[in-house]
Amino acid sequence: MEKIIWGEGFSVGVRELDDQHKRIVTIVNTLLDMNDTNVGSEIISDTLTKMTQYASDHFKTEEQYMLDYGYPEYLSQKKQHQEFKKMTVNFCVGTMVHNATVPTEIFTYLKSWWINHILKEDMKYKDFFHTKGVK
Ligand SMILES: [Fe+2]
Repeated sequence: MEKIIWGEGFSVGVRELDDQHKRIVTIVNTLLDMNDTNVGSEIISDTLTKMTQYASDHFKTEEQYMLDYGYPEYLSQKKQHQEFKKMTVNFCVGTMVHNATVPTEIFTYLKSWWINHILKEDMKYKDFFHTKGVK
């Protein structure tokens, strides 16, 4: 599966959040590679867990920025973050239980969720934080 290629178009203008997004993209790309190379589901499960934990920390940081500056779409973002966490926890459990192969749909979901979320939803706060002087 083609990897996510980070470009300037992914930048939300807040350095800490960009750095976290980059790290998440790296982990997701590692997973996309695993889908192609037939590695054991145990390794995939471990990496999925790592990504879920990291994403969860990232959501906390991102939501804190939103709260600190009174971002109007905070609740909508929080809901999407919760939905994502629910999905990935199910993936982690599912991957551990069904020890054979990990369905490609999981990788497709992760890839498209992050691309859409960063480019559409997170991008909406770029101007907002910029006006507030956050870098
Ligand atoms: Fe977000």
